[in-house]
Amino acid sequence: MKVPFFGNDRQFKNLEDIIHETSKRVWLTGQYLNGPDISHFEESLAKFTNRRFALTLGSCTDALTYALLALKLPAGSEVLVTNFSFLSSATAILKAGLKPIFCDIDPETMMVTSQIFQESITPKTKAILSVSLFGSLTDCENIESLCKERGISLIEDAAQSFGAKRSGRMAASFGEASAISFDPTKLLHGTGAGGALLTDNEELYLFAKSLRLHGRDERGNFIRLGDKSLLSSHDGAIMNEKLKLLPMWIKRRQDIAKRYTSALKESKILKTQHIPNDVHSTFHKFVILCNSQESRDALKNHLKEKDILTRIHYPKTISEEELFKEANGITPIAYEQTKRVLTLPLFQELTDEEVDYVCAALAEF
Ligand SMILES: Cc1ncc(COP(=O)(O)O)c(C=O)c1O
Repeated sequence: MKVPFFGNDRQFKNLEDIIHETSKRVWLTGQYLNGPDISHFEESLAKFTNRRFALTLGSCTDALTYALLALKLPAGSEVLVTNFSFLSSATAILKAGLKPIFCDIDPETMMVTSQIFQESITPKTKAILSVSLFGSLTDCENIESLCKERGISLIEDAAQSFGAKRSGRMAASFGEASAISFDPTKLLHGTGAGGALLTDNEELYLFAKSLRLHGRDERGNFIRLGDKSLLSSHDGAIMNEKLKLLPMWIKRRQDIAKRYTSALKESKILKTQHIPNDVHSTFHKFVILCNSQESRDALKNHLKEKDILTRIHYPKTISEEELFKEANGITPIAYEQTKRVLTLPLFQELTDEEVDYVCAALAEF
């Protein structure tokens, strides 16, 4: 049996009728950027995340960059960020003319916690960019309180946590602004790149809105240097339909995660990402931590021989990339975990037989 890593083709087959119908409707509107399909999707996103404003953009990286630019911090101000994530969490900081300071992660949750941020704050820290990974949520509420107490800004990278909750509070509802991604590897996606910024702050929203269209303000005047960073009406309309299915998809993902977790329960060499009791994870990714690089590589090969595809999130810390060679921050746990992590295939369209097959292969290992 072959178990693929992604199931986008299967998702399309399941939703073919809705997608064709929606697609045809949008083609017939003749309005492929902006317009009512984008406004409707933005309203749905704001409602879903309990934010006042949602702004769709060309990517999550743009959403993070615009949120940081909107803070209007002096050039070179320091921003704390994890060293264990996709690199855009940190490139957004560079793009906004700020300085990333890398923080280490908690070895159990694989994310930076409020405690770690607290220990990393210096008088030069002006903002925190908090990243929640793999469908879980770090202790965002404590991070939010910490930022308020210390008078620093908080931007939430919810690219991977969209749809998750912690103590009943939705991901993408923390801090001055949050960013989500509609990349095809993410829970909610269309056919191309895309992202959104969520905020309760009208001024921040209008600033980011101007940046997405060449710096144009609400009256149509070009008042600052901007980009063209828009989501297509087609993708917005399709995602508006898919958003209704998200709770059902998350439930299926949680069921699969439960079965993987129980298959790994007795293992002395493989551990799962720790999900705190008050977190309702979407299991955007199912990442396991092996006891050594050798066992990780052996497991990867074992699964490959069984035609089960896996990936590594992340094979390097961000600061190991050439682009960040000047950056500061000592992060031994993040570095060590890059050698030991392995991501199993987990998407809602996996069949029960495929899940059993993966569980059996894990048990055999
Ligand atoms: C944690 C995290 N932040 C930011 C991004 C960037 O998203 P986008 O590709 O939409 O810019 C990603 C995408 O992989 C991500 O996983």
